[in-house]
Amino acid sequence: MIIAIDGPAASGKGTLAKAVAAHCGLAHLDSGLLYRGVAKGLIDRGLALEDEAAATEIAAQLDLSMLDAAALRGAAMGEAASRIAAHASVRAALVDLQRSFARQPGGAVIDGRDIGTAICPDADVKLFITASSEERARRRWRELVLGGAPLDYDTVLADIRRRDERDSTRSASPLRQASDAVLIDTTRLDAQAALSAALAIIGEKRARREPADLTPRARRGES
Ligand code: C5P
Repeated sequence: MIIAIDGPAASGKGTLAKAVAAHCGLAHLDSGLLYRGVAKGLIDRGLALEDEAAATEIAAQLDLSMLDAAALRGAAMGEAASRIAAHASVRAALVDLQRSFARQPGGAVIDGRDIGTAICPDADVKLFITASSEERARRRWRELVLGGAPLDYDTVLADIRRRDERDSTRSASPLRQASDAVLIDTTRLDAQAALSAALAIIGEKRARREPADLTPRARRGES
């Protein structure tokens, strides 16, 4: 089963994707790490984020097992990732890696911006997770305060709005809800409630698939 979870920054999609993957026993890929990894590769080499050719080369050589999530966190890396993610050739260089991850035996959960629209348009379940920009900024602000690197709320809100604007207006695979994705608005939901909502949707899709795809007889190829 392939589960695509898309949505804007700080919508709760990452936390949800991890919890869904653990619950369903599926592998999980946070595709934002790929774009963050490419941005860090450019920064480490002293290259400009506008250098599309270098970014594309780094993207083509990206090794999932080498990505250090802890080193890629943070608002500055998220902003840099969003800038390089607008390059169509960088996105193209990351497609196969994401699709092979999705196609592993048993399937996978992948979260990002374009998983349901561009990377896995045939995903079994597509969720689009959102929340108001004020609520997302409040969550991000709280994380920064707890992490000991506070920023004022208005700056965080402006950052979130700028990233939303860039991610949803770029021409290459912009952030948008796939027509067959189910929307979950987490503005008033905590992580547990969002997980329950997602599992209910997944359970429903599974039940619908069951008669055709998943009965033991069908699995053995018997009619
Ligand atoms: O999800 P995260 O905040 O880590 O993503 C960082 C940036 O990477 C996003 O703002 C977005 O521009 C880009 N991204 C993307 N497509 C994805 C995942 C992330 O364009 N599938």
